[in-house]
Amino acid sequence: MSGGAVLEASGIGVRFGGVRALHDVRIAVRPGEICGLIGPNGAGKTTLFDVLSGIRRPDRGRVRLAGSDVTLRPPAWRARHGMRRTFQRQQLFGQLTVADNLVVAQEGGRWRRGGAARSRERAAEVLAACGLAELAGAYPGTLPVGLGRMAELARALAEPPRVLLLDEPASGMTAAERGRLAGVVRRLAADEGCAVLLVEHDVGFVMDLCSRVVVLDLGQVLAEGDPARVRADPAVREAYLGAGTGPGTGGVETGGVGTGGVETGGVETGGVETGGVECAPPDIR
Ligand SMILES: Nc1ncnc2c1ncn2[C@@H]1O[C@H](COP(=O)(O)OP(=O)(O)OP(=O)(O)O)[C@@H](O)[C@H]1O
Ligand SMILES: [Mg+2]
Repeated sequence: MSGGAVLEASGIGVRFGGVRALHDVRIAVRPGEICGLIGPNGAGKTTLFDVLSGIRRPDRGRVRLAGSDVTLRPPAWRARHGMRRTFQRQQLFGQLTVADNLVVAQEGGRWRRGGAARSRERAAEVLAACGLAELAGAYPGTLPVGLGRMAELARALAEPPRVLLLDEPASGMTAAERGRLAGVVRRLAADEGCAVLLVEHDVGFVMDLCSRVVVLDLGQVLAEGDPARVRADPAVREAYLGAGTGPGTGGVETGGVGTGGVETGGVETGGVETGGVECAPPDIR
């Protein structure tokens, strides 16, 4: 494992018929790091998440989690070992309340093993940390998009993850919800040492939140570095941020994160065995 990365993929290649979705992609995320993954529509971001989370087996390359080669491990195994994700299109269980979505995500984990009361208590703590305490008994289908996304994030935190993959978590959120999301993610990384990899088209949000950004274009890593360096990269501006824009004025930028963090107390770091929720099949457009 290079540079202390908890999640590392190298040489990743995926083809869909004649479409080369990913080619020789390498990415690594360290504990406590919030890494952004950006790029144009169709760049391969969700496909890479599917490979990292085990939903799609790559044609080439390896994925390592905490030093172990997990390339052939199924999603549930990776989830049990601390990898959690959210989906570009929400994948909450519609027949269950928001709180029950969290409880089922604790399956096999230490909070569930602590008994039903502890399990519910933990779910309530996480929901409160995500600003969803009032919605514990609501059904996902009744929630506005932003709150549904926040509920999916809460489910990913139901057992403390060591690696969290977020696919467009801020999409459809209000400015206040984005601020809360950023607060939760920051605290998770800083206090719990969780490694976060975040796909988002709101470049302002990504640049404010992430300490490092990887740019994918046409299935390949186009650039990588700290936000200032990536913003200034002419190839990135040409491919994604919009030609003719100066650093900090990217064409798809919609504003920063804001400062509306919330208390996320109670989100604790667990051991490797964190119990898994089977990742639903990808809903790929
Ligand atoms: N199941 C599939 N079958 C065929 N082609 C696919 C499939 N899934 C993805 N693709 C293609 O692979 C490429 C990468 O798609 P992907 O969804 O990973 O991009 P993305 O970067 O997540 O885009 P977006 O920003 O629009 O979500 C695209 O050309 C897409 O059309
Ligand atoms: Mg996508």
